[in-house]
Formats: sequence, structure tokens, C-alpha cells
Amino acid sequence: MVPDYPLSRSTDPVPEAERKAILAEPGFGRYFTDHMATAVWTPDGGWHDRGIGPLRPYTLHPSAAVLHYAQEIFEGLKAYRHADGSVWLFRPEANARRFARSARRMALPELPEEDFLTSVEGLVRADEAWVPVPGGEESLYLRPFMFASEAFLGVRPAAEVVYSVIASPAGPYFASGVTGVTLWVSSRYTRAARGGTGAAKCGGNYAASLAAQIEAQEHGCDQVMYLDSEGEGTLEESGTMNLCLVTSDGRLVTPALGTILEGVTRDTVLALAADFGLTPEERTVTLDELRSGAADGSVTEVFAAGTAAVVTPIVRFKGDGYEFTVGDGEPGSRTVALRRHVLDIQYGRAEDRHGWMHRVL
Ligand code: COI
Repeated sequence: MVPDYPLSRSTDPVPEAERKAILAEPGFGRYFTDHMATAVWTPDGGWHDRGIGPLRPYTLHPSAAVLHYAQEIFEGLKAYRHADGSVWLFRPEANARRFARSARRMALPELPEEDFLTSVEGLVRADEAWVPVPGGEESLYLRPFMFASEAFLGVRPAAEVVYSVIASPAGPYFASGVTGVTLWVSSRYTRAARGGTGAAKCGGNYAASLAAQIEAQEHGCDQVMYLDSEGEGTLEESGTMNLCLVTSDGRLVTPALGTILEGVTRDTVLALAADFGLTPEERTVTLDELRSGAADGSVTEVFAAGTAAVVTPIVRFKGDGYEFTVGDGEPGSRTVALRRHVLDIQYGRAEDRHGWMHRVL
């Protein structure tokens, strides 16, 4: 049975002129739409109290478990307006499945895929006016999340959990996204250990990344590149994005899954690789291989893949006592072409041969 998220419309929406000014320059994650979707879970009642209503603050007891033990997960996906005015999601089932996997890892209740899709679609419908007409890369970023709301200080899985979806109009994630970013190779911080939470999209992973991000900024870099936690010098991911290398012999190489996030955009570029003359390869990649490959020209391009950042060229790396450039320091042609093609599919300008687009309106 399809779950019902009844809509109770806001009586106090953002005035049209203000909304239009926001949509003209949305930035990322700064402004929020008029509504939110919510459901509550308890052991006896399962998922209940589903609905879409006005965006509002929560009332949380100060002992709510999430505030102490970070039992929380989230997702990120976007709604795209096509030239004919229709509105689409990109591979939302993949986000729903990853949300369920993250929930299992964090001992949270799984939200059925139907619930995820119905709540996300319902919110997009309620806030349709907030889906930008794209001049460039604008979209409505959707943030489903779930947290332990039970008021209890004992350390065990919470017996009350809140699920919500909020929405935020978005432009490009990186101001320098298309010209290429520089990554800081942290030798001080790692992101995830075997058996840890690296593959889950949980807030704690992102909290732990902030000190490393400060370190990156102090070294004039845009983001961090993490190596494995066992000191083997293998590439993991870049905090908010997966990493991909293009080689001179036509391979698209990306670190294998395990302790990294199973990115939807990562999977998308792997599936599209062959269309760009590239053979996808998921395997261990070492920093040495990247450095020597950048030096001898066998690694011709590096890019990052993520929902927020789409496909972002990485043109330079810095670490303790070294730095190196990939190619000529400009975004590579395969990277630019893949990026264009992913965006063209998302905005309905290229044929969706994989059935990835999901129409909402
Ligand atoms: C996304 O691409 O959706 C992310 O998870 C990045 C976000 C943490 C800003």
C-alpha cells in the first residue's frame, strides 16, 4: 500500500518577491522552502503521523538521544526543472536504498522505499514554486534525514525516531567547481576504519571531517582527500564526494567500496564510462600511483563525483611537504564531457537510456 503524506499547506509562505530573489541566487543550503515532510517511528506504532506541513522548528527534549549519541542519518538528492516546465528526480530509489542501509548501520528503523519516494515527491509537489528554472545548474536540493528523538540518556537504539525531508534551492556547490578544485591530502586525519561507519551517510562522519576541512583550508585547499586508516596510503574519498581517476590507457578508476560512501553519482559515472571510451575499474588506488601517474602522464584527469558537486574536476593536490598538478592544471576533457552528460540527462537535454529520471510534475 502506498503510504499517505497528507498536505497541510502553509498559511504563511515566503512572499513571492522574496522567493524569486532567493531563486535568483540560491547558493547552497542557505534558504529553505515553505514545507517539510515528517513521520514518526515507535516500536509499537511503527511509522506513523506521516504528513507534509509548514516548515517548522522541532521541539526536542534536551536529553533527546541524537543530541548526545548522534544516532542520525541523511540523504541528498535533487529535483530538476526541464525546459518544458516538468520536474524530475534523478535515481531517487538509489537514495532510498542507501537510506535503508545507513539506517541498519546506525540501528535506526528502516524507512520503506515507498515512504521515502512518496514523502520526497509530496514535498516537491507542495513546494513546486521553489524548483528553479535553470539558467545554469540550479535545482531544488532535497534533504531526507532521520534522528533519534527519544528523551533517554541510556546508550541503546532509540525507541522514538523522527524522519523528515526539507528542501533548499541550490546553485553550484563549489564556486570554483568547473575550473577545478585543489584537495588537501591529510596525513593527520582519516575518515573511516574497517567495521566503522564510513559507508553510512550519518552526521557523525561529517562532524569528524570538519577539523580536516579546517586543515585543508589553512593550506589553501578546497577540500580534503582522505587516505585509509591503516596507513596503507590508499585513496578513500573526499568527504562529500567520491574520487575518480582517468588514465592515459582509457580506464576510469575509482576506489572500491567498503569504507567509503556508495555514491549515486559515482555509480552513474561508472555506468556511463563506456560511452566515453573508458573502462570502469573499482579497485584499490594508492597515493603513490596517483602521484607518479600525475608526474608521468599515465593519470590524465581526476575528478570528484557527488550529488551536490555533480562531477567536479580536481586539478591539484597538496600534502605535507609536497604538491602536484594533474595534467596541465585545467579540467580534463573526459571530466568536462562526463559532467556535461550527467547534467544533460538530469535536465532532460540528453536521452535517459538507463531509466534514471523519475517524473514528479
Ligand atoms: C551530497 O552530495 O548530497 C552530499 O552529501 C554533500 C553534502 C554533505 C553537502
